[in-house]
Amino acid sequence: MVQPTPKQAVRSLVSYRPALGKPKDVTPIRLSANEGALGWSPQVEAALRDKAFRLNHYGQPQSADLHAAIAKRYGLEAVRILTSNGSDELIGLICLAYLEPGDEAIYTQYGFLVFPQATTIAGGVPVKVADDGLTASVDHILAAVTERTKIVFLANPNNPTGTMISEAEVKRLHQGLPEHVILVLDWAYAEYVAGEMSYGARMVETAENVVMFRTFSKMHGLAAQRLGWGYFPDAIRDVLASIRPPFSINSVAVTLGIAAIEDEAFQQQSIAHNQKWMAALPTRLGAIGITVMPSVTNFVLLHFDGHNGPDSDAALAFLAEHNILLRDMHPYGLGEYLRMSVGTDAEMEEVIARLTELMMQS
Ligand SMILES: Cc1ncc(COP(=O)(O)O)c(C=O)c1O
Repeated sequence: MVQPTPKQAVRSLVSYRPALGKPKDVTPIRLSANEGALGWSPQVEAALRDKAFRLNHYGQPQSADLHAAIAKRYGLEAVRILTSNGSDELIGLICLAYLEPGDEAIYTQYGFLVFPQATTIAGGVPVKVADDGLTASVDHILAAVTERTKIVFLANPNNPTGTMISEAEVKRLHQGLPEHVILVLDWAYAEYVAGEMSYGARMVETAENVVMFRTFSKMHGLAAQRLGWGYFPDAIRDVLASIRPPFSINSVAVTLGIAAIEDEAFQQQSIAHNQKWMAALPTRLGAIGITVMPSVTNFVLLHFDGHNGPDSDAALAFLAEHNILLRDMHPYGLGEYLRMSVGTDAEMEEVIARLTELMMQS
């Protein structure tokens, strides 16, 4: 029997489907997806309650009000903004628009796995370059550029390592790239870094080949709404605008996004909460024999190599038994680690208590 066959690129795809873990009951402590620790802003809650939503109507393809709110919050030119169904959508669109079959997109060894997936689906060739330890290496990226390179993906800070390269290094990377290569600055965690890495926007404003992707899924606490945005040179924005599905962002997300971005008090509270735990974790977990890798984000890699304690599989299973979900790092080639996001105070105390129990057993 002859069956419909997907295109070659899709047949060879190793699909990336995040394993968020299997909860033991319906309300797990979920620290496996780098979501905002403090839920969502009270202003978002108020908008959900008070605003009228016309659920039978399509929303606007793009919302000038949302663009204006983002531009105001981050000091940007509204005209360069394009919003999307999560920043994942933009990663897919840029590959679809700029990769001919066989064109190459570079990503880093421990970089975000959506990059090679989107590249492959578009018909391109993902080129993985070695990191320097757990951090992206500009030298290795530049050495991998060929005539077929069309895109370089840089998540900075990176998920899942939590590391970042400096502004000077990002600029050196850009300067070393041919002008036809697009540098994608995936700034999903920029909100957690002091100064919010505003230099990325300045790079976009002064070059034709730099784009910046951002998200409402992390510090703004709207992961379920699927809302991302990008900042673009005019030409690239026009191309992506022309191929995106017309209604990929929904009008509820737009309304909640505006409420979230205007609530700077909630944002500051979220940052302060994150800083408190990121400062405390190395000491608290170090005291029970768990090494916490340095991170500038809202998550950390915990080292479980099985030498002086459980390996990562055993630790993951033990925590899941206690209804706590961390992220398995085997898909990233980081099997000696588990990734843990910062949760609420109560969640963090619970996970530390369980990890203490685990370390005492072994
Ligand atoms: C580096 C990075 N980029 C992009 C995304 C996608 O975010 P969104 O929820 O906006 O699609 C994530 C989500 O985990 C991420 O870690």
